[in-house]
Amino acid sequence: MPKKRNRKAKARRRHGRLPSTIRKRPRKKARHLRKPPAKRVHHKPPARKTRRTAIKDRRRRLKKKGVKRRLHARIRKPARKKTHKISHAKVSRPRKVSHKPREVQKRIHRKHAVVRRPKRVPPKRHPRPAKRPVPPTPAPVQIVDRRRQQTPSIQPKDFIREIKSRIAGAVSSASGLDSTEIIPLLERPPEGIGADFALPCFTLARTMKKDPRLIAMDLSHAIAPSGLLKEAKPAGAYLNFLVDWNVVAAGLLPSILRNSRYGSSRLGEGKTIVVDFSSPNIAKPMSVGHLRSTTIGDSLCRMHRFLGYRVIGDNHLGDWGTQFGKMIVAYRKWGHPDKLEKSPVEEMLRLYVKFHEDAEVDPKLEDEARLAFKRLEDGDKEHLELWKKFSELSKAEFGKVYRLLGVKFDMWLGESFYDSMAKEVIEQALKNNVAKWSEHALIIELEGQVPLIIRKSDEATVYSTRDLAAINYRMKKFRPERILYVVGSEQKSYMEQVFAAAGKLGYVKPGQNLAHVQFGMMSLPEGKMSTRKGRVVLLDHVISEVVDLAEKTIMIKNPELKGRKKVAQEVGIGALKYADLSRDRIKDVRFDWDEILSFEGDTGPYVQYTHARACSILRKGKIKAPPERFDTGLLKDPKEALIIRKLAEFPETVARAAEDCKPHYIANYVFSLATLFNEFYQSIPVLKAKRAERGTRVALVFSVRNVLKSGLDLLGIEAPEEM
Ligand code: ARG
Repeated sequence: MPKKRNRKAKARRRHGRLPSTIRKRPRKKARHLRKPPAKRVHHKPPARKTRRTAIKDRRRRLKKKGVKRRLHARIRKPARKKTHKISHAKVSRPRKVSHKPREVQKRIHRKHAVVRRPKRVPPKRHPRPAKRPVPPTPAPVQIVDRRRQQTPSIQPKDFIREIKSRIAGAVSSASGLDSTEIIPLLERPPEGIGADFALPCFTLARTMKKDPRLIAMDLSHAIAPSGLLKEAKPAGAYLNFLVDWNVVAAGLLPSILRNSRYGSSRLGEGKTIVVDFSSPNIAKPMSVGHLRSTTIGDSLCRMHRFLGYRVIGDNHLGDWGTQFGKMIVAYRKWGHPDKLEKSPVEEMLRLYVKFHEDAEVDPKLEDEARLAFKRLEDGDKEHLELWKKFSELSKAEFGKVYRLLGVKFDMWLGESFYDSMAKEVIEQALKNNVAKWSEHALIIELEGQVPLIIRKSDEATVYSTRDLAAINYRMKKFRPERILYVVGSEQKSYMEQVFAAAGKLGYVKPGQNLAHVQFGMMSLPEGKMSTRKGRVVLLDHVISEVVDLAEKTIMIKNPELKGRKKVAQEVGIGALKYADLSRDRIKDVRFDWDEILSFEGDTGPYVQYTHARACSILRKGKIKAPPERFDTGLLKDPKEALIIRKLAEFPETVARAAEDCKPHYIANYVFSLATLFNEFYQSIPVLKAKRAERGTRVALVFSVRNVLKSGLDLLGIEAPEEM
């Protein structure tokens, strides 16, 4: 009891103090507010009304006086800030004496505010966020607000994951097993089985100690189809599921139409990936191997960015090493400054070839080259200037190729950047007893592998030392989750050695962070390359040839096309990249120009053409924006269901492609989506369909177009609207 008395006394004390502090401020405001009389008329009655309701409460009535005063004080306050100040002051007091009345006061205050400022508190702000998270209702779909369609306000969803968890949930309630155990068991049965998902019951048989066929049978009886789950039927030891793709479409299509980044996610949020790619060697022409690294690496960068990672694309140029000693010697002996300015690639190549030809006869040249590189490493001014010249001319040439290919890097840190850091690597390795001298080389011994040489007697640092320094630098500077090395498979064992050595040196956790994204050889119809013998295929020649061929094809297929040159470039380069990216990177690629440029079959131009066809349907129908309303219940043809299913698979495909660093998953995906779309379009009318069907099919065409464009973009391939 003393507590109660205490509280009352405190309250009295407080109320005695409060009005004096509060009154002054509100009165000023009140007078100020009273000026517009009309407003005041509206202003008072609701406050009284609410107070009357408040008074009904017995407990509140007990403290009526104090409360009333405070109500006045608060009600008259127009500015939110001050109200906040008062309540803040109260909050800081140790005991809540009149908690409930204050709640009432707040309510009154809020109500009052709405009444007093009817125009200033428009419902605009509130309803919008409230509506957004509402999942799209099953067919018919109504998208009313066009603005919302265009703004990427909805976080794109992975519908396959949703379907799987719905199936797992049904199995879980029928079997009592945990749905997280079931999800990984769900399979995509092969085409022709007539099912969308299948649950093999063998694993369950072990835990449930029951015949898997019986499990499938029993579960099928226990699962009641509803929503997106159309049917669960047993097939031997499998439980097959059929999905109602119309129901899925009701959520999926609006999701694609509203969000241009459908398929993206926040998977990589807060994580960094470094991609070491392209990395040609200066003073040499870029090889086809570097073209593969460029195309694959660029696609990996795009995919990871799409998934929310911070991506650092690094061009680890080969701009340091004995070969520059050779170039310097050759240039001094046989170089033509004019030729070097005019056609740097040809001149540097000529010098490179001449050096190797002559060195075969005169081995002293090699010694001279070693000496020249030593002087370069020691910072000789004249040598450095020559090196800089080669480096700048080469970079300018590479830049041309990258521009043609539409490839960008975040950094161009060549090997030369790491020279001094590489010397520290050597000191550290010696100090920590990680490295030891063996004959005239410093080596790091590795378990089950050939030791890695990190220094030769005549070179301060070598390729591997600079790679180790780069790992240390990248790990410290970017704290990446992974560093991807997009390097040909001929460097497989070298990469393994470097990764193991980096682990020994403590730059990375052994077996983590570093991944060699290896790829096979690429051969062009022109034949195999050998820079030393001067048998090279210059990349810009390859590109211009493929673009010319694309232009010729376009001239035959669509002679009236506007902007033919630009489209030819997009198609030619698209063909080249697609041929590279559509096969598992481990495999070798053989180019056949006619094949990769045909607008049919598994080629870049075929996918681009399908995208352009979808665009042309929309153009012909003068359809600029996706329809606001459409009924997905009208998607009755199995061809349409197949497209819906394919569209739903996009997010999962992108995530897997990034995880495995395999762009061909995406290439295969866009190819099969394009095929399904062409089959649909050949047999089902879109623009000539009845009004309702037309709307739904147009939404489907729009969705396919968007996803094809996104998919091609992840491969670094342009999607022209006409071709
Ligand atoms: N410049 C090297 C070459 O042409 C490729 C470099 C790959 N990246 C690396 N960090 N080692 O063979």
